[in-house]
Amino acid sequence: MKLIRVTDYEEMSRKAAEIIAEQVKEKPESCLGLATGETPVGTYRELVHYRNEGKISFERVHTVNLDEYCGLSADDRQSYRYYMKTNFFDAIGIDPARTFLPDGMNTDVEAECSRYDRVIEGLGGIDLQLLGIGRNGHIGFNEPASYFSKGTHCVTLTESTIEANKRYFASAEEVPRKAYTMGIGTIMAAKKILLLASGREKADAVRASLQGEVTPEMPASILQFHRDAVLIADEEACSKLN
Ligand code: GLP
Repeated sequence: MKLIRVTDYEEMSRKAAEIIAEQVKEKPESCLGLATGETPVGTYRELVHYRNEGKISFERVHTVNLDEYCGLSADDRQSYRYYMKTNFFDAIGIDPARTFLPDGMNTDVEAECSRYDRVIEGLGGIDLQLLGIGRNGHIGFNEPASYFSKGTHCVTLTESTIEANKRYFASAEEVPRKAYTMGIGTIMAAKKILLLASGREKADAVRASLQGEVTPEMPASILQFHRDAVLIADEEACSKLN
């Protein structure tokens, strides 16, 4: 995994947006794998600027998101569909029919997982996958585990993730306990991967993922085995690197 060290969140966001814009210019019909969380908000903002200045168009791209909470509908303000709509999709004017997320309201887990895998397959796989990293090294909602998952599956969130994500909810009790997530196998099949990390609370996960042993206990460490994975991390996130 190649490391691009930047000073702060703003520089990380600008650099990430440049790389994504480059991808879309080179291949306007790209399939972009997208992420949620606080980390990519600045990247989306930069991309919206590019689009408003006429530098790129997202008209022909398709997007597939990493994950969605179980039990939250598309118009629930805490759902990742809602996040994508308000942070990116509406602002770039993309046809919602070209955007895909797991359906958190589908209680038929098996059907939903295979539907989502077929969606990604039908789009010809992911050209560029954007990723954030959880404090425990999770990517998407692939939590530390004893094996690397393959395709879309339903996970039980760890206490550490519930704790980290409760800031978006009225209380920790309201954080859904389960989520659908793209599998590690699907993420690894993306042609290019862009992992973003900002802030001191990501420093342990960054060190372990970049310099530690490759293990499903630290899901992002698998990215060391990807042919074209780039980590853009700011000074605070890099503060524990050897
Ligand atoms: C959530 C998401 C991840 C994201 C992570 C980090 O759990 N499912 O995709 O990378 O949080 O979020 P943040 O960027 O807010 O630190």
